[in-house]
Amino acid sequence: MNPKIINLPKILDKRGNLSFFEHSNQLPFAIARTYWIYDVPGGEIRGGHAFKEQQEFIIALSGSFDVILNNGKKDELFSLNRSYKGLYVPKMYWRSLENFSTNSLALIVSDKLYDATDYIRDFEQFKFLKN
Ligand code: TYD
Repeated sequence: MNPKIINLPKILDKRGNLSFFEHSNQLPFAIARTYWIYDVPGGEIRGGHAFKEQQEFIIALSGSFDVILNNGKKDELFSLNRSYKGLYVPKMYWRSLENFSTNSLALIVSDKLYDATDYIRDFEQFKFLKN
């Protein structure tokens, strides 16, 4: 599967809107882990690595940021700025999160538990393994 923006259901209500995702209706994998990135100082970049096996789904629950994915050949930029849209990131994509707005909140769900050995932190090694 390729990276893609997944539109989530949006239940409009005068009392406030509600969105959700569940496996396997919106999300193509079962969730093993949830984490979030917040209080990012202006100009900082998170990520800068790829995962050998884990897949992720990234949502801007609040504010906005950009996710830059590299497939070993070229970059593709996804701007996330709605709490009812998320980005599916397959395994083996180099990913960086940057351009965080003030008070932005990035929610990330993964199909794997945290595993330091699943990270590829060297871009040249990533390109070698990918191509
Ligand atoms: P890391 O994934 O390297 O952050 P980023 O790539 O977004 O800059 O994680 C930063 C630190 O947090 C690292 O020491 C590992 C730890 N960590 C966990 O313990 N559990 C997790 O689920 C995640 C994502 C990170």
